[in-house]
Amino acid sequence: MQNGMEKIFSGGKRIVVLASDHRYFGVVAGLERPKEVLTPLLPYVDVLMTDPGVLRNCFNNSVPKPVILRASGCTTTMSVPVPGYLQEPAKLAYRERTGKDFDATYGLYRAKVESGKASPEEFDQYRSLDGVINEPDTIANEKLILGAEDVRREGAAAAAVSVYLRTHYQSQTLDNLATFSRQARKIGIALLGVVAVGDALGYLEKDADFLTRAGAILVAHGADFIKTYNCGEGFERVVEACGVPVIVAGGKAPKGVDETKDSLELAYDSMQKGASGIDFGRRVWRHKHPVAMIQALRAVVHENLNARQAYELFRDVQETVVRS
Ligand code: 5RP
Repeated sequence: MQNGMEKIFSGGKRIVVLASDHRYFGVVAGLERPKEVLTPLLPYVDVLMTDPGVLRNCFNNSVPKPVILRASGCTTTMSVPVPGYLQEPAKLAYRERTGKDFDATYGLYRAKVESGKASPEEFDQYRSLDGVINEPDTIANEKLILGAEDVRREGAAAAAVSVYLRTHYQSQTLDNLATFSRQARKIGIALLGVVAVGDALGYLEKDADFLTRAGAILVAHGADFIKTYNCGEGFERVVEACGVPVIVAGGKAPKGVDETKDSLELAYDSMQKGASGIDFGRRVWRHKHPVAMIQALRAVVHENLNARQAYELFRDVQETVVRS
């Protein structure tokens, strides 16, 4: 039997995965018409990662590339507000304790986190203030939405299951992974363990020690390959400790920098440090020139172009596409 990993890595040791599973938790901007957006990109990717609705309803279960299907869900990016009658006393107590206005202080930390420039301490502050207004960790409360047999029936080669460590739901989401793994192993479906952090734990993306331990934990619970973040310094150790193929998450492109260069540098650095590929979504399909972007990323992964060479390729392709 050909197992899912052979299908996912059928073209060699490195892969370009296009992430498009975002609608499962309510990230829709840019993916309102998935087939229209994704089809021109498919010739340049090795694998499509998507959700069951997109696979069935937009592609009629027929994608010309192997598919990683989102198999965990049941949570969204929509916050769950704490009732006002509980918020008010907590806000008053905050003012008495600190002498500061709660809403103004919360707004400052929130802006910092949204800018992507918050320090770990600022993230922690934001997290504790946000807990007064919104139920904490709701995004982490994932359950399985598909079993391995369902994934096979839908025609996918692999499934993605997220794990939210350092949240209230770490045990539950590890159980999702382990449960899926037991089923998947029997029928040759590969399992991608996704190291998830969510907005309130975003600083962990840069924490090499957290990512090293997270990768090892997910592999121990049955992941065949890992999607995680490139934390910069120390990422080699993350890859080494996983001991299975690692693909790098894109995340939102940071504001105030050249988005194209940033994505190419992220991809290049990841490959240099031992990653087996990339799994970018918004950095590609939200880009102004997605076809040029995916071609440049592909050249980094498969042709060993460095970020500068890939940027030149990006500009060439972009000009050709604009002229035609
Ligand atoms: C988070 C995920 C998401 O579902 C998605 O694939 C993220 O893609 P990107 O951040 O590149 O837009 O798996 O880990």
